Amino acid sequence: MTDRELLDKAAKAAENAYVPYSRFPVGAALECADGTVFTGCNVENAALGSTICAERTAFVKAVSEGKRSFKRIAICGQGESYCMPCGACRQFMHEFAPHIEVLCARGDGRYVSYRLDQLMPYAFSL
Ligand code: THU
Repeated sequence: MTDRELLDKAAKAAENAYVPYSRFPVGAALECADGTVFTGCNVENAALGSTICAERTAFVKAVSEGKRSFKRIAICGQGESYCMPCGACRQFMHEFAPHIEVLCARGDGRYVSYRLDQLMPYAFSL
């Protein structure tokens, strides 16, 4: 699958975002080592700290279906800046995929690509 195809799946997933507070939909598409793709969107809550980001939605869907090995994740926001994963998501993803490739897109479709260990050096682990 090309980067663009994975990014398109992330953009499509953002259509289901529940964002009454921020009005900032985000979509994610997580590619597993076996090629399957799990998508996710952000799901907000009136208790704002209970909000779940798109990346964590996708990861929880995949892990809860038994997946443990991951290759790439695409993240799409509609802003002028590239949609970079928040600190909590970086830590969460690091648990399962410290070297995963992270594609971060902005509203015009352009994207940048990093490895998670570039975005999260010296991460905490037990
Ligand atoms: N958000 C994500 O879902 N993923 C990111 O990478 C950045 C932020 C969400 C959280 C919240 O619902 C909204 O974007 C604004 O912060």
